[in-house]
Amino acid sequence: MNSCQLSLQWRLLSVFIIFSISVTATNFNIPRLSPIRGSYFMDLQILSTDVSEDFQTFFYTQTLDHFNYRPESFSTFQQRYLINFKSWGGANANAPIFAYFGAEGPLDGDLDVIGFLTDNANRFNALLVYIEHRYYGKSIPFGSREEALKNASTIGYFNSAQAIADYAEILMYIKKKYQAEDSPVIVIGGSYGGMLAAWFRLKYPHAALGALASSAPILYFDDITPQNGYYSVVTKDFREASETCYQTIRESWSEIEKIASTPNGLLILSKQFRTCKPLQDSSELKDNLLSMYATAAQYNQPPRYPVSMVCGGIDGAPSQTDILGKIFAGVVAYKGNRSCYINAPMNESETDVGWQWQTCSEIVIPIGIDNTTMFPPNPFNLSVFIDGCEAEYSGVHPRPHWVTTYYGGHDIKLILQRFASNIIFSNGLRDPYSSGGVLEDISDTVVAIHTVNGSHCLDILRANRSSDPDWLVKQRETELEIIEGWMSMYYADLKASKQIQTNGI
Ligand SMILES: *[C@@H]1O[C@H](CO)[C@@H](O)[C@H](O)[C@H]1NC(C)=O
Ligand SMILES: *[C@@H]1O[C@H](CO)[C@@H](O)[C@H](O)[C@H]1NC(C)=O
Ligand SMILES: *[C@@H]1O[C@H](CO)[C@@H](O)[C@H](O)[C@H]1NC(C)=O
Ligand SMILES: *[C@@H]1O[C@H](CO)[C@@H](O)[C@H](O)[C@H]1NC(C)=O
Ligand SMILES: *[C@@H]1O[C@H](CO)[C@@H](O)[C@H](O)[C@H]1NC(C)=O
Ligand SMILES: *[C@@H]1O[C@H](CO)[C@@H](O)[C@H](O)[C@H]1NC(C)=O
Ligand SMILES: *[C@@H]1O[C@H](CO)[C@@H](O)[C@H](O)[C@H]1NC(C)=O
Repeated sequence: MNSCQLSLQWRLLSVFIIFSISVTATNFNIPRLSPIRGSYFMDLQILSTDVSEDFQTFFYTQTLDHFNYRPESFSTFQQRYLINFKSWGGANANAPIFAYFGAEGPLDGDLDVIGFLTDNANRFNALLVYIEHRYYGKSIPFGSREEALKNASTIGYFNSAQAIADYAEILMYIKKKYQAEDSPVIVIGGSYGGMLAAWFRLKYPHAALGALASSAPILYFDDITPQNGYYSVVTKDFREASETCYQTIRESWSEIEKIASTPNGLLILSKQFRTCKPLQDSSELKDNLLSMYATAAQYNQPPRYPVSMVCGGIDGAPSQTDILGKIFAGVVAYKGNRSCYINAPMNESETDVGWQWQTCSEIVIPIGIDNTTMFPPNPFNLSVFIDGCEAEYSGVHPRPHWVTTYYGGHDIKLILQRFASNIIFSNGLRDPYSSGGVLEDISDTVVAIHTVNGSHCLDILRANRSSDPDWLVKQRETELEIIEGWMSMYYADLKASKQIQTNGI
């Protein structure tokens, strides 16, 4: 790690911005893939009841390297998983197993927030299993995070293929341990975890009967999705919420530049936006605002609808307010009453660090901005991206074509329509990542379920009877009925196969 400046830049921009390289003063941000946004998670944690009390924690002795037979491949680490037995109908009934795939962070937060499993356990008499992703939370190889992330010899085992192999091994182990070999497994994940769930069903059909992949942008790789997809959806969200709000944001960037270029301009902007630290460069302000709009769009959940909150502030400012005054009113409307707003101090989270590695090695998501959005153009430049990664990870070279080589993605309908089965790709079209999602049915059993007004991973979050809109309740019900359909077909097949075995051949 030979560039302090680079990691400082990252630290400054962390929270949900995952990638930002400033080697050539061109910043680039890949918004984080995560079912939940930081402060929502806090809200929900406080509101949530006693869900996690029903879980028992276990550790599985996991193989470091599933794909080689070198001496170090056989090293092991302790991988965390949790089981909730409360609703399980048991192995004799072949009652199902719902498995949640952890994504780029510690599992702890997901237990209360990802409600799809707990909300529906009784309906299916399901055993619930939540498995943590390697290199996050309490599932760290090499004894400590510091060692695990130290250099290419240790961090090299941190990739999606190893992660889904871990999941397969643990699921096999659990089925055996509880004599549940014939219990169907449904794997569930959101965002990056949703990609893992979909890929798992394709690679390990014997280990999962089906997958629910919520807001999984499996097509945001290589050249499959236009680079502009993400920010064009952010723009559309704001424009649909309010044309004047969209116009104000669009005009604000040149306004920021205009003031920044005057004597004392940065000081004036620092005051106007009540920054926590004086701005050193106008890009700090622009990056903060860009991230705020992107986050509001990605997590534009009912009942608060953050995009409407931002636009409410912008449009609600007194009519004589200038453009940047309106923008600041939007910031305050979104973030609430704070002592300062931009450049807030923050620590790098485990996710910041881990996701940086993942996006710099395998999960290269080319998000760029062209001149058709409400943002300043900022095309994705692969060579700049690669240079930044090589500098940060001393020589580790990103593999931008590996995901499509290993998992596919090009011509997905043509390729999968006669191969795959039992995958639900769910999306909310207001989620900017839906631009890289599967939005059309691929076959009768590989289906796309989307809602016009949904946001990132909304369907797998905890249900709330008093505030969930009808379209969300309906989306979840549709998904549950599809899963029931897979299971009844499986049970019929299972019965037939047992009869053949019993009758002998
Ligand atoms: C990583 O660090 C270990 C221990 O310090 C060292 O033995 C190994 O050669 C390093 N590997 C690389 C690729 O730098
Ligand atoms: C905002 O917070 C400050 C102190 O942190 C308080 O004095 C002020 O009344 C608050 N304003 C509103 C509108 O809540
Ligand atoms: C960052 O971490 C340090 C040390 O753990 C802590 O004292 C500080 O409050 C943290 N800052 C923020 C903004 O969370
Ligand atoms: C946007 O970019 C395209 C292609 O680079 C160019 O043809 C077009 O004139 C640009 N539009 C505006 C409004 O700048
Ligand atoms: C990417 O950036 C490099 C270095 O700044 C530049 O030379 C190159 O033209 C850029 N590529 C594209 C496709 O814009
Ligand atoms: C989506 O929301 C808009 C306004 O926010 C509303 O007019 C529209 O009817 C909604 N569409 C659906 C399908 O619920
Ligand atoms: C459900 O939504 C209502 C209305 O927004 C809220 O007051 C309540 O706390 C929520 N309940 C849970 C368990 O999140």
